[in-house]
Amino acid sequence: MKAIIPTGGRGTRMRPLTFSANKHFIPVANKPLVFYPIEKVAETGIKDVAITYNPGGMDEVETALGDGSRWGLKFTYILQEKPLGLANIVEVCEDFLAGSSFLFHLGDNIFADGIRQAFDYFVKNKPNGLVTMLHHPENKRMGVPYFDKNKKLLKYVEKPENPPHDFAIPGLYFADSNFFKCFKGKDRIKPSARGEFEIPSAFQWMIDHGFNVEVIEYSGKWLDPGKFDDWLNANEYLLSRDLQANMGSEIDRTSEIKGKVSIGVHTKIRSSKLNGPVVIGDNVIIENSEIGPFASIGSDCEVLNSKIKRSVLMDGVRVSGVANRPIEDSLIGTDSEITGLNNRSVKTNLFIGEKCKIQI
Ligand code: G1P
Repeated sequence: MKAIIPTGGRGTRMRPLTFSANKHFIPVANKPLVFYPIEKVAETGIKDVAITYNPGGMDEVETALGDGSRWGLKFTYILQEKPLGLANIVEVCEDFLAGSSFLFHLGDNIFADGIRQAFDYFVKNKPNGLVTMLHHPENKRMGVPYFDKNKKLLKYVEKPENPPHDFAIPGLYFADSNFFKCFKGKDRIKPSARGEFEIPSAFQWMIDHGFNVEVIEYSGKWLDPGKFDDWLNANEYLLSRDLQANMGSEIDRTSEIKGKVSIGVHTKIRSSKLNGPVVIGDNVIIENSEIGPFASIGSDCEVLNSKIKRSVLMDGVRVSGVANRPIEDSLIGTDSEITGLNNRSVKTNLFIGEKCKIQI
């Protein structure tokens, strides 16, 4: 069994950040988003993983992920030449799979309680295909399963107008090599109205040709940081639940810590309050400031005379003099600089891209 994790896509819902950054490498709780899928795949015991990327994306992806050995995995990088959809991502991995069954885990979905149960079910019961499902209030914007009482999948529709229930299919799929038959022959699958070979079309083809595709409910926590709000929610959830307290650097005697806080190396905290959960990276300076709760501060940041709550600061962000209107519910791109100039008493709410300079 092998795995496929994509790192491409346009990330349109996360613009402007994704004009310059690949969504998969934007941090959630100070960890690039794609690390979560990689860790979950590693937990299954699978070793061989294809990482797919967009044209021009190889350097960034390979620099960030390496050969996979830090997770005990072996990565093979595979180019998806055109943005032709999720089924096409699997199709370009056909040679890599060489007849093996596979697990396909989208690189921007977090299955926070692991994927073991679905993996074990697929390995033990050997259906030709297996998709996960979960309750979701907005399943109209997702893939939706129609299934019988034995959890056999009958129909699988992408973004239906009137879903019959609130189940949705998130980004975790399993199949054997019969999957590839949908790309061959006269009745092969066609692109959808949005010009993509949809993953539901491939599984629908299998169902229509007599293959056994089943659904399994995912009862753990699923996070989909596809949009700005969802990103902050995912950050808050993971900080609250999974953050391990860690003191990689000392804080001075005039600073206070409440709750769980993780601080990287070569970081200096002076005359500040940290209200956990808070995670702070390496080489950061925090002075005369109040941070948290639910704040993720990347590496090489500087926060002076400011207040920051429930926000994500990517690496190299500088904030100074923003205390009367705290920074709250904000996601701030790499190397941005925010400077407070005067005193007002309402909060500041930001969603800005990389290298911005803002004076408030
Ligand atoms: C994609 C899939 C959809 C699935 C979703 C999960 O949607 O097409 O079936 O439910 O991922 O994140 P997209 O992100 O392309 O809208």
